[in-house]
Amino acid sequence: MTAPILRQLADLRALTKTWQQAGERIAVVPTMGALHDGHLSLVKSAKAGADRVIVTIFVNPKQFNNPDDLANYPRTEHDDAAKLRPYGVDVIYAPDADQIYPEGFATNVSVSGISAGLCGAHRPGHFDGVATVVTKLFLQTSADQAYFGEKDYQQLMLVRRVARDLDIPIDVVGCPTVREADGLALSSRNTHLSDSARAIAPALHRAMDRAAAQITAGAPVDDSLEQARADILAARFADVEYLELRSAATLTPMTLANAPARLLAAAMLDGVRLIDNIAVAPVTPPR
Ligand code: PAF
Repeated sequence: MTAPILRQLADLRALTKTWQQAGERIAVVPTMGALHDGHLSLVKSAKAGADRVIVTIFVNPKQFNNPDDLANYPRTEHDDAAKLRPYGVDVIYAPDADQIYPEGFATNVSVSGISAGLCGAHRPGHFDGVATVVTKLFLQTSADQAYFGEKDYQQLMLVRRVARDLDIPIDVVGCPTVREADGLALSSRNTHLSDSARAIAPALHRAMDRAAAQITAGAPVDDSLEQARADILAARFADVEYLELRSAATLTPMTLANAPARLLAAAMLDGVRLIDNIAVAPVTPPR
């Protein structure tokens, strides 16, 4: 059955109140629509972890630093609802813009530290937009759990920090990145790639995998990252915005993989900004 679509906060609250009164656990899967198998894997995990599942669809203008990017972002609500049908989602919350940003809206949720660097350095204001909308969605849905993909690893860390810092009683659950058979991480942006660019795109993940293996085997981090950067450019990516080794727990930069680490990258291909990240096992297992 197709899940009902609610656009008004009051309607959502009326529904969640009945669930809470029945003692049911609520999960939310926040999305901007253009759903793919990565999102659907979050929905599946949410279904397994809670009694009720809300999928939110809201293309959040506050997190786009580039107006063209916002204008071109795919809006496919009808298809999204159809894709969700087999998963038994209880409700789709696709709020009208004024339900998120009412007239005179003036509050900004900003997370220092985690927002700096990586995507934060290349997309000014992006993470304030994410933190603000996610805070609103957490409060509006009163969910007990929220599901996010590890594909946006910096976002996942940021959202965890927001929930912890603002005492929002929600369990933020991170789910593994879903990939195409050739390794390309699923993303709504992949649909913007031309056929030839699509064939090149997995080179990003391949280069990262190689670098991660070298680092875990004890190769110097700088050399491994430099080689990976060269490989990505040789594959005909136009630019590597960043390629960095960071702590998996805190996202602080690492020059030695002596604790669980994450290799994170953003690179431009065919005018499309692709991001990816993978776990890097420590050189010596922590004692
Ligand atoms: O990852 C996304 O799609 C968005 O950043 C999110 C978390 C739905 C907030 O708008």
